[in-house]
Amino acid sequence: MTIRRVFRVQQSREMKEGAGVTVRRAMGHIDTDVMDPFLLLDDFGSDNPDEFKAGFPWHPHRGIETVTYMLEGKVAHEDSTGGSGVIRPGEVQWMTAGSGIIHQEMPDPKEDSIRGLQLWVNLPSSKKMTDPKYRGLSRDDMPEVELDDGIRIKIIAGEVGGMKGPVEGIAVDPEYLDVKMPANSDFNHPVDEEHTVLAYVVEGEAVFGSNQDRVSKGNLVVLTDGDQVRVQTGPEEARFILVSGKPLNESIAWRGPIVMNTQEEIRTAFMEYRQGTFVKTST
Ligand code: CO
Repeated sequence: MTIRRVFRVQQSREMKEGAGVTVRRAMGHIDTDVMDPFLLLDDFGSDNPDEFKAGFPWHPHRGIETVTYMLEGKVAHEDSTGGSGVIRPGEVQWMTAGSGIIHQEMPDPKEDSIRGLQLWVNLPSSKKMTDPKYRGLSRDDMPEVELDDGIRIKIIAGEVGGMKGPVEGIAVDPEYLDVKMPANSDFNHPVDEEHTVLAYVVEGEAVFGSNQDRVSKGNLVVLTDGDQVRVQTGPEEARFILVSGKPLNESIAWRGPIVMNTQEEIRTAFMEYRQGTFVKTST
């Protein structure tokens, strides 16, 4: 058994996205080889409605999956397939953009505060032009498992203690767990040796690996190779997401919300978007 150590800790950086919404970007555009198959993680929202109500109006995606997990407040979405709905606190939308989707994601302006996480998962070249697909997960869809020490884990994708999360059939075979640890607890979890494993601290602080410094809220942890994840808390409790996935080892051409393998594919995507032929009709 090899416990994964901390390879790197990086603090999320505040920036504006969409129509001026404050996001804290934990990863994106930098060191995509280290994060592979994950592309971007935004911790979005604010306690000030003026900072989020403008939302993320109509924009395209192609070649990736976006995973939106609402922690607080609601986001309404609408898309080019004619689908629409509301993502409520504790709910997840796992969207495979594939060949192309145009959508908007608008926080409820009546909320006092909102907070959500959006993770971008890359698609392999063979799946980049696949038909778009939505998976909307309500709280009841995602099992919660309680382990020793009072550790509680919500399983979005992957398996813990014999329980499986609802998201299956994703190209990079991801695991996505929401882990809540009380103070002075010890979490051990097996992971695929081949996978990239990342954690993002949502609240509190914890120690990842062994004999490492505490990592606090708003930081992303990239772990080294190994087949086991170990996280311990001290006097404070912690909540973090743990994500893992199979690296694709493919070239990345990335412009805004579109991630392909070549610049030619990016040019084609933007040309189609301008010409109104971006969205492919399903076969
Ligand atoms: Co989007």
